[in-house]
Amino acid sequence: RMIPVILAGGQGTRLWPMSRAARPKQFLPLTGERSLFQETLARVSDPARYGPAIIVTNADYRFLVAEQAQEVGAALAGVLLEPVARNTTAAIAAAAFHAIRTIVPDALLHVLPSDHAVMTDENYWATLEIARKAAVSGRLVTFGITPTGPETGYGYIEAGTEAAPGLCAVARFVEKPDRERAEAMLAKGGYYWNSGMFLLGARAFLEECAALSPESHAAAEAAVRDARVDLDFVRLDEAGFAGAPNISVDYAIFEKTAKVSLVPVAYSWSDLGSWDAVWKVSDKDGAGNVAWGPATLSDTRNSLIVSEKAHVAVDGMEDIAVIASEDAVYIGRLSAAQRVGPMVKALKARP
Ligand code: GDD
Ligand code: MG
Repeated sequence: RMIPVILAGGQGTRLWPMSRAARPKQFLPLTGERSLFQETLARVSDPARYGPAIIVTNADYRFLVAEQAQEVGAALAGVLLEPVARNTTAAIAAAAFHAIRTIVPDALLHVLPSDHAVMTDENYWATLEIARKAAVSGRLVTFGITPTGPETGYGYIEAGTEAAPGLCAVARFVEKPDRERAEAMLAKGGYYWNSGMFLLGARAFLEECAALSPESHAAAEAAVRDARVDLDFVRLDEAGFAGAPNISVDYAIFEKTAKVSLVPVAYSWSDLGSWDAVWKVSDKDGAGNVAWGPATLSDTRNSLIVSEKAHVAVDGMEDIAVIASEDAVYIGRLSAAQRVGPMVKALKARP
């Protein structure tokens, strides 16, 4: 059985002001009743396919994780708590060490971000099976989504030659291109969105990690070895974990390893990384609006209004996002929603 590894330590800055450091987007119910994290748990809940899940998150989110996992009755094989954020390389390496130590030495990990909306149709399970076979034979498999537009919020993967039906080599990675480059890749074809979902053997991954990012490997190993266990919570040792470089697994491992394989997929998938992505996957009224919370719209089209408390009235607008949390309001062009990220960084940097 595969072991789910759910990455739930990110901050989701581009969904400000609803997604905040205290309650980032993976814990918000953006697609329905359940939070994105709970939807992710539901996707890996079939005991015929999956063993209990390993969650890797920031220590600050431990109660959100425990509460939300309990609400959906998820079986857990450990909640690894990061004392500091070191991005995805160290998080996945720690999960791999934990799986080898406490579950099985030849653990097969299905690494999943906790903040995606994914359609688990037949194609999903069929392509996962292709990936599973490749991972069992030592490949580090990444899933590439067939792009539906020139998105700039995603990384892209150029497919190389086909090694087996549905399994390709990787020609190159392009992380978050600008609009022009995204359009050029779409026009050329053979490019996929980097889904951030992986299927890999814990050992195969750690071998590559030792070779390509030895500091991440050493830090994760020490942090798991010296961890303090408290029920489901595994507090990674701070002195060990802090030594890991702050680097994503795309940059540290996948762009460099010769063991990477790509499984192109065509199911519906979204990172929900920004407000325009939330709008795209949501049900709209006849004028193309999505309104959650107390809101009145007149003569307004293709807009997203989200309000937690205050009544928001919008008149005569198009392509606008109005996001009103209890103590902050964001107003911007919905189609330029990627700009929230840098703006929030600037906000945080203010004295
Ligand atoms: N545990 C843990 N610790 N999780 C983390 C950390 C960390 O320090 N940092 C990020 N994560 C989690 C996030 O919660 C998210 O689920 C996932 O790792 C990816 O991080 P993001 O910060 O959301 O990355 P991104 O969306 O900007 O870009 C990545 O994902 C895209 C697809 O969703 C890249 O891989 C892109 O190339 C890719 O297209
Ligand atoms: Mg993301």
